[in-house]
Amino acid sequence: MNSITGKTKICGIIGDPIEHSMSPVMHNAAFQALGLDYVYLPFHVRREELPGAIAGIRALNVVGLNVTIPHKEAVILLLDKLEPLAEKMGAVNTIVNEGGLLTGHNTDAPGFLQALRSKGIDPEGKSILILGAGGASKGISFILAEAGASLVILNRTVTRAEELASQIAQYYHRRPEALTLSEENLARGLDGADILVNTTSVGMVPYVNQTPMPANLLNPNLVVCDIVYNPLETRLLKEAKAAGARTIDGLNMLVWQGALAFEKWTGQKAPFEIMKQAAVKALGYEK
Ligand SMILES: NC(=O)c1ccc[n+]([C@@H]2O[C@H](COP(=O)([O-])OP(=O)(O)OC[C@H]3O[C@@H](n4cnc5c(N)ncnc54)[C@H](OP(=O)(O)O)[C@@H]3O)[C@@H](O)[C@H]2O)c1
Repeated sequence: MNSITGKTKICGIIGDPIEHSMSPVMHNAAFQALGLDYVYLPFHVRREELPGAIAGIRALNVVGLNVTIPHKEAVILLLDKLEPLAEKMGAVNTIVNEGGLLTGHNTDAPGFLQALRSKGIDPEGKSILILGAGGASKGISFILAEAGASLVILNRTVTRAEELASQIAQYYHRRPEALTLSEENLARGLDGADILVNTTSVGMVPYVNQTPMPANLLNPNLVVCDIVYNPLETRLLKEAKAAGARTIDGLNMLVWQGALAFEKWTGQKAPFEIMKQAAVKALGYEK
């Protein structure tokens, strides 16, 4: 436990629900490892309490805040400034409070990009098949388009994929192809793809026997990323490994988004491995 003094700086996370969040353990481990006089707390904030919570962080001088479901979009109207990526995505997961001036950032999608780059994978010029068009897909699709990848987005509800492709086309040259998530389109989307990214919740507990991609379509030339981190090794990742593909699990994205927020609040390089170990332990993944 950090020892709390009169000078301790407060960070935290707001969401509903909040009990499952890994952020408190990751950030408190990082503060402790670097000897920083900060503490990170979970705040259960319901939709109707959001304006009061944001006024409260100004009043209480909370220096840094993470924002999770269901507040990532609604919080925008309550902030003073948005950094460009958060503005494009229309979603904020990190707030920096500088003397009452609140700036909204998005570190979710940069966390995904950092997870790729930390494994030596640069999306520029790559063909990427994205499964899903929900909240997480939106950020990931934007950042991959910005990084110069060409995208195919498949979603069960095709209108959501089409909407996302149109939003991306407003900012970037290449419009992603948007199709229904069907076996035929999975095969078509994988043809010539370098990277496959699952952003759907298929394969997450309790449905660990499900996979969004038939194993026979996987091949050794692919990098397969699954942003689901519960379980750590999803059926998709197991089958991708068995097919000889490189794999990246969802925990890397989760920890990198936290590490990037940590750096904005403290100005210090985040201790990534310590944050990851704290999350691994809290999730019960320790061997
Ligand atoms: N690693 C990380 O840091 C991180 C960060 C954020 C989220 N996640 C994980 O990513 C997943 C998605 O989160 P989200 O916030 O994007 O959720 P969301 O906004 O609710 O979107 C869910 C997506 O999954 C699709 N989907 C759900 N059930 C499906 C099924 N049975 N078959 C096919 N498609 C299905 C939805 O398709 P429809 O549009 O057709 O409903 C939609 O595209 C969750 O498992 C979450 O835990 C991980």
